[in-house]
Amino acid sequence: MNVRIISTQPFLDQKPGTSGLRKKVAVFRQPHYLENFVQSIFDSIAAPQGATLALGGDGRYYNRTAIQIILKMAAANGFGRVLVGKGGILSTPAASCVIRKYQTFGGIILSASHNPGGPDGDFGIKFNSGNGGPATETVTEAIFARSKAIGEYRILDAPDVALDEIGETMLGAMRVQVIDAVSDYAGLMESLFDFAAIRNLLAGGFQMKFDAMHAVTGPYAQEIFTNRLGAPAGSVANAVPLEDFGGGHPDPNLTYAHDLVEALYGADAPDFGAASDGDGDRNMILGRRFFVTPSDSLAVIAANATLVPGYRKGVAGIARSMPTSAAADRVAQALNIPCFETPTGWKFFGNLMDAGKVTLCGEESFGTGSDHVREKDGLWAVLFWLNILAARKQSVESIVREHWAKYGRNVYSRHDYEGLPTEAAQGVIQHLKGCFTDLAGVRLGQYTVKFCDDFSYTDPVDGSVSKGQGIRIIFTDGSRIVFRLSGTGTEGATLRVYLEAYEADTSRHHLDAQVALADLIRIALQVSELELRAGRDKPTVIT
Ligand code: G1P
Ligand code: ZN
Repeated sequence: MNVRIISTQPFLDQKPGTSGLRKKVAVFRQPHYLENFVQSIFDSIAAPQGATLALGGDGRYYNRTAIQIILKMAAANGFGRVLVGKGGILSTPAASCVIRKYQTFGGIILSASHNPGGPDGDFGIKFNSGNGGPATETVTEAIFARSKAIGEYRILDAPDVALDEIGETMLGAMRVQVIDAVSDYAGLMESLFDFAAIRNLLAGGFQMKFDAMHAVTGPYAQEIFTNRLGAPAGSVANAVPLEDFGGGHPDPNLTYAHDLVEALYGADAPDFGAASDGDGDRNMILGRRFFVTPSDSLAVIAANATLVPGYRKGVAGIARSMPTSAAADRVAQALNIPCFETPTGWKFFGNLMDAGKVTLCGEESFGTGSDHVREKDGLWAVLFWLNILAARKQSVESIVREHWAKYGRNVYSRHDYEGLPTEAAQGVIQHLKGCFTDLAGVRLGQYTVKFCDDFSYTDPVDGSVSKGQGIRIIFTDGSRIVFRLSGTGTEGATLRVYLEAYEADTSRHHLDAQVALADLIRIALQVSELELRAGRDKPTVIT
């Protein structure tokens, strides 16, 4: 089999965002587009000759084609072995698990996460390092720099590899091993959680509903909830992964997981509901007629961690992304452990976990996880809640309300304005930056501005600095408004407005977040001139 060296021209738009390179499928299908990016990865990571790579994706449209291209390029670039998920599929946390378990040099994950799929949808690719986590900014910047200078790529002239059966094939001198990552992943979960207690809970009439949203977690959820934990048939909905997610938007939130939300708020609602996203790293947790915000979920998990066998010894520290509410900080303070505030994106947690500084991490964007892998992990979060519920024998709602009564409630919401003209969205951010000096010390409604800034982060482990990570308006009572432009969208710009108010008064804990935050929402709109500048009178999605 021959290695072909193909000459190519750089594409100038291959800058990885919050989580890898994400574009429309049509962009990835342009001749040489995917190949250029893959070669840029290989040129930047300095893998030794004969190294092992993990490879898999969320199964969306174009996954299979891309896997075959990457296999042939890996063979032509001197890799010795590639571990591929069966059918070319690996959930993002399972990919992280595989990289760590088999100690591969790194892995390539094909996913556009919660973005819609299908021929008109999105596709994505990212490189994860040997710790199992998304490459650091230093690496993604090197890949981007290489993509702007690339002149050729290497690919093996070979037939496609069969991927639907567990087994081994040679591709030139490279071994392709198709693995059963579902069982690797389920085994890892079984080592962390009290499966016997959860099995008892489910056998005792406790009802759960997990919505896989026709995305990657279906087979993992069937194996774990149905086969290993004995959940009755029907507990896992939309379990068959589809290339276009059944036309849906595989994002587990109150807007897109509406069937699940309806079931949990309807008559005869189950005790517990949960969902995961396109690639299995996000989670949404619901009790009967009760929504747990991801920020609260992180805090409750941290406060109850020692009820779970894998965390019995306690938590070394917690990290949360800057826009995530400070609910977890209060738990960290009570436990006398450190709490780190990082920029948005899971890649910033890796160093902290590798250095043993944190055990639990979370983002307000429905992402929670721990140092068992180096990605956020949807099913892990669901199992954590089931384990807590099995141990405490209380409802989801009463656990959260007791938590608020003890720590106070960080009332929280995020308002997204999607599909804005890029200049308009950037205009809002520029305008806000120009207001910093004028706003300091000013009273707005019941709040007084303590300070405003554009968040910047110095990694405590490697000293790297990440600037421009979001505009913060911090008030003297700890309430906050944050403005950020999304780094994962593929169409126009998305402006995110994050709102947080601290409420110690238990008699006000029952208030709907939108009601409790009404003043802050008004201030956010007034200060940013968002409605005028963006030409919108309401957000696209509220979470
Ligand atoms: C979004 C979330 C962020 C998350 C990322 C990947 O990024 O806000 O927390 O890490 O998706 O799931 P954004 O579009 O805001 O850049
Ligand atoms: Zn995801």
